[in-house]
Amino acid sequence: MKKKIFLYYIILIVIGVSVTGFFTSELTQRFYKNEVEEKLKNSANLIKYNISEQIAAGNKVDYNKIAVNYAKLLDASSSYTNSSQIKSSTRITFIDYSGNVLGESDTDYREMENHSNRKEVQEAIQGKTGSDVRFSKTLKMNFLYIAVPFDTPKVVIRISVPLIQLKNIDRAIWYYTLIGILAGVILTTLLALKFSSSVTKPINELIAATKEISMGNYSKRVNINAKDEFSQFAVSFNRMAAKLEEVIAEMTDKNLKVDSIINSMISGIAAVDTNYKVMLINSIACEMFGIKNGPGVIGINIIELIRNHQINHFLKETIEKNTPLSNEIIVSGPEEKILRVYTSPIKSLDSRSLNSGGIAVINDITNVKKLEQIRTEFVSNVTHELKTPLTSIRGFIETLRGGAIEDREVADKFLEIIDIEAERLYMLINDILQLSEIETKQKDSNISTHNFKSIAEEVLLILKDSADKKGIKLIGEIEDNIKIVANRDRIKQMLINLIDNGIKYNRENGSVTLKAYKYEGKIIITVKDTGIGIAKEHLARIFERFYRVDKGRSRSMGGTGLGLSIVKHIVNLYSGDIKVNSTTGSGTEFTIQLPA
Ligand SMILES: Nc1ncnc2c1ncn2[C@@H]1O[C@H](COP(=O)(O)OP(=O)(O)OP(=O)(O)O)[C@@H](O)[C@H]1O
Ligand SMILES: [Mg+2]
Repeated sequence: MKKKIFLYYIILIVIGVSVTGFFTSELTQRFYKNEVEEKLKNSANLIKYNISEQIAAGNKVDYNKIAVNYAKLLDASSSYTNSSQIKSSTRITFIDYSGNVLGESDTDYREMENHSNRKEVQEAIQGKTGSDVRFSKTLKMNFLYIAVPFDTPKVVIRISVPLIQLKNIDRAIWYYTLIGILAGVILTTLLALKFSSSVTKPINELIAATKEISMGNYSKRVNINAKDEFSQFAVSFNRMAAKLEEVIAEMTDKNLKVDSIINSMISGIAAVDTNYKVMLINSIACEMFGIKNGPGVIGINIIELIRNHQINHFLKETIEKNTPLSNEIIVSGPEEKILRVYTSPIKSLDSRSLNSGGIAVINDITNVKKLEQIRTEFVSNVTHELKTPLTSIRGFIETLRGGAIEDREVADKFLEIIDIEAERLYMLINDILQLSEIETKQKDSNISTHNFKSIAEEVLLILKDSADKKGIKLIGEIEDNIKIVANRDRIKQMLINLIDNGIKYNRENGSVTLKAYKYEGKIIITVKDTGIGIAKEHLARIFERFYRVDKGRSRSMGGTGLGLSIVKHIVNLYSGDIKVNSTTGSGTEFTIQLPA
């Protein structure tokens, strides 16, 4: 830019000064020529006057002598003819109207050719003052010829001088022109340097600002203090940059909002274009497929990214058929997951294409499925547990009807069994009701502060009979002053279920010890027995509903497998924790921690 401006200025200066030089030279030459012409005309008129005087005096006119004398005279008086290069500068020639030379100051006139073809001579013969400029090849300069006519006698006086000064003037003018050009160039260089930098500085500033903006610094503005188009340009530029910054900020804000919404969703989302390249994927989807989320995932083919052929297939079907689909898939991994995948086509803005890709919304339904399974199992278990005593009751009633009722002893025995089975049914239904009541509760009702010792002692008293029947010792080691804020019946139920197990799954003359104390601000309750213990593989499952280690043995003792499940739910309801420790053959210990 700077170079260009500078070059244009130099060219302008050279052309300007040259043209000026040329016209000056032309004008000066013309003036000089006119002046010389005037002088020569005057001299010719002087000679004319002299000749006419001689004729009037009756003297014979010697043209050659006059020519020589006047030439000398004129040479001596004129400055413009002085030249060392030329033998005699002013040349005077007399020519008659036929072109014959009558006298000459420079050469022998008798040897000279006819001069009637010379332009100035022809003009003079016609009565005008003739003039011409001709270049002498021998002397290498221009000569000015002036011819003045003389009527009586008919003679032409021709005076010629070399236009020596013409060359000098020319040289001088071009010399000054050159100096002018040189000075112009120097001056222009200095000015151009200053001016061009004043032009390029704001442009460079604009270029730098544009670069910064393109690199993402949208707050960049230019600061141009000029009162010309540049300042207007700068104002427009800044306005444009401000608008751009505003639009970008708005877009970034919108993107961030959409991003945070998409990433806050509990469903996984992945959208692809018609080439199955990922346009969008949220962090849940990445988590589901074990992908590291980041800007690098966009643009990758979905199959390469999530490596799940089923989802790829569903998307393909959705895009090709342009219809939403819903499918369930199982994803193996460290943990098997069941996913529900909803795929739907993305509406296209272009009316020529069906859609512009597809979107998959993926929900992890593993827990839902598990719950479903637990519920189904629960229903089948409940049905089974209800059916067994009912079948037994119906069987004995049938037998009684069939005649057994007649035998009083047998009838009493059967009725007792029916009573036991009915009691079992009642207990079972009670347990199920209790369990479903606790399960649906977030917080227990009838809560008040109780002394734990009084609850524990009541429970030990309730179970004393059944323990005595089996010869099992019940031991209570309860700290005084343990206050518990809870529903009294619930805590009772919890202790009964645990101690009952301790009695049921004990050996003869064994014992069950209930301990309770405060530790680190918590209430610790332990129920330890000296019974058969629980094998390791069963420990994790004993809190499940209807789970029994030995079904036959448990049922024979009236157990349904709901006792520990109820305990666990009660502990959870009070934000506590239950642990079990057992050694087969030597006993089991349950430890409960409850917040005080
Ligand atoms: N103290 C224990 N010693 C050995 N096994 C136990 C003990 N407590 C529980 N179990 C085992 O865990 C299973 C589940 O116990 P849970 O109390 O839930 O059911 P249950 O005692 O069989 O029936 P329910 O308590 O409903 O009358 C029992 O069947 C038994 O096999
Ligand atoms: Mg039990």
